[in-house]
Amino acid sequence: MSLFPLATDLPMESGGPAERALRQLRRVTSSSTATPSAVVDLDRIADGVGLAREAHSRIVVTYAMKASYHRPVLDAVRATGAGVSAFSELEMDLARTAGFASSDIVYNGVGRDGAALAAAVDAGVTVNLESLAELHGLLHARGAGSPPGRIGFRVNSSVLGGSDALGKYGVLGLPVDHLLTVADTLRGSSLVLGGISFHHFANRLNGADHLDALERLLPELAPLSGHPAVALDYIDVGGGWASRMEMDDENATETFLALAGRIDAAFDCTTILELGRFLVADAEALLSRVVDVRADGSTVVAILDATTNYLIPAPGHRFRVERLEPLAGGETRTPVRFVDRMGSTICENACGSLRPGALVGVLNAGAYAGVMKEHFVYPLPDTSYVRDDMVVAISPADGEEAVRAHHHWSER
Ligand SMILES: Cc1ncc(COP(=O)(O)O)c(C=O)c1O
Repeated sequence: MSLFPLATDLPMESGGPAERALRQLRRVTSSSTATPSAVVDLDRIADGVGLAREAHSRIVVTYAMKASYHRPVLDAVRATGAGVSAFSELEMDLARTAGFASSDIVYNGVGRDGAALAAAVDAGVTVNLESLAELHGLLHARGAGSPPGRIGFRVNSSVLGGSDALGKYGVLGLPVDHLLTVADTLRGSSLVLGGISFHHFANRLNGADHLDALERLLPELAPLSGHPAVALDYIDVGGGWASRMEMDDENATETFLALAGRIDAAFDCTTILELGRFLVADAEALLSRVVDVRADGSTVVAILDATTNYLIPAPGHRFRVERLEPLAGGETRTPVRFVDRMGSTICENACGSLRPGALVGVLNAGAYAGVMKEHFVYPLPDTSYVRDDMVVAISPADGEEAVRAHHHWSER
């Protein structure tokens, strides 16, 4: 049985994202064929930010950095002028170190300390609170006489008819009908409720579920209208989309336009998108080598030297493996099951013929794989960052020494 959902068999569309990723890998292999190694296409990330922003004039794009902490990735996002979305004090610190201005940071989280929240609000960070306990902590830490400020609040999916009401998206945030309590609590403080956020989904291939959640949310916000402590200026629809490669650009543009258009029409508000996987998943590919090719009945099984310790995906991830060598004239693609060096199935998709030693790209590998990587059995791969077709930085993974150090083997 496969651990991961199997990739749909997408054709190798010419000029498409898969071909682009393979081109980058071929370029890197001309200087080194060490495998496995990772390549991150920074231009692809910047381009994805542009696509989302251009969908509607009232969209604000933030990169949900939990999808990949690589510093060059954050630098590439900042260079576009987009913001960043952080989920913890650690991520806040990384965002600040990368040079993001407070006004370009969205701060989400759970169970945060009142003083840290107050410092962020007073610095002009967009803070989405998650619970009444956080709200009370914040009000206490700010005290009387604090300058005017604004907070946002996350709502959960529990009263929105979400099918996963008991899952994390049903738990994190307040039920939407508690927002009136939030507004009443803010009355007389120097804070207003300036935004509503939700994050209910993962890996969606279109905008249907987000739009549905929005349609359910909008009428629930009517009781807040005219409240003296409410001045909504943004709705933050979170993240939750599949990679750009899987969504395709036209569909993504349509999705973001529909959401922002609806929010603009209903509330005259900005739409914040907190894009994680959508921006970084297909910007990273692993260069890998076929170790062996076997037959399982009529299925071809190719074993790669890439391993799941750094391909551990957030649930629902879809990898895709392609041969670096272009198809020969008349050669057809046939189904192959790709298995990693620890025996786990990575994905199954059509591919040209394979033999041991052939180079392949494990595509769509940039989201959550890096932050969830584990130091066991095999060392992690080095990562190269490419901009304008040139390798601009390399993070060496430090081989077996790093595995030893991680497990406290200080001496040999
Ligand atoms: C609040 C919030 N926003 C955005 C994201 C990014 O999600 P995705 O990578 O699915 O776009 C996450 C991920 O868990 C999140 O928790």
